[in-house]
Amino acid sequence: MTAPSDTAPERLPDLVSDVASEPEPAPIPVEVTVNGDPRALSVEARRSLADVLNRALGLPGTQVGCELGACGTCTVLVNGEPARACLMLAVQADGTEVETVESLARDGRLNALQKAFSEKYALQCGFCTPGFLMLATALLRKEPDASRERIRESVSANLCRCGGYSQIIDAIESVATAGADATAGDAIPGDAVPRDATPGAEPTTAAEPTPGTDARS
Ligand code: FES
Ligand code: FES
Repeated sequence: MTAPSDTAPERLPDLVSDVASEPEPAPIPVEVTVNGDPRALSVEARRSLADVLNRALGLPGTQVGCELGACGTCTVLVNGEPARACLMLAVQADGTEVETVESLARDGRLNALQKAFSEKYALQCGFCTPGFLMLATALLRKEPDASRERIRESVSANLCRCGGYSQIIDAIESVATAGADATAGDAIPGDAVPRDATPGAEPTTAAEPTPGTDARS
């Protein structure tokens, strides 16, 4: 057994004080196009894209759930591809085009995908809805007539805690089927839905809530 040392232990570094006394890193300039609008920002390097969209740009539709890259509620499109906004730093978005769920409805009218989610009961609490809408947007742009199997494969990237997967797949499939018919592409996200593209659908007024764009509390 080692005899106790009679010399005073070396002082451990005070990591907390050391870190606290370090100067804040300077914000970094970021130029990004968000939902078609060029934005020049100055952001801290540690800020996630989701954080900047929610707080700095006032776009609350991008929901943050796990913040670990697992649930996909924060899915946005970066240069047309789905990306986890909780994992991506805002500075990484420099020079890119970002699309959020707020880009889908136009002039207060839901697009085909949003209408389908509403009509097929593809949302319960709605927390996951923005992520699924953006995931489906990317899929249907590339594959307007995606098969149910492809849709199922695509949406498997995201989680719905309410368990509404069948209805979510039904909703996306209904848009894919309509797109394959005649109005090819017209009703796909980014455009207002023509009245005749969704039989029986009433125009949505600006006062109505937009699925997937609830503000975070
Ligand atoms: S909040 Fe981004 S993946 Fe869950
Ligand atoms: S509708 Fe509630 S988590 Fe998907």
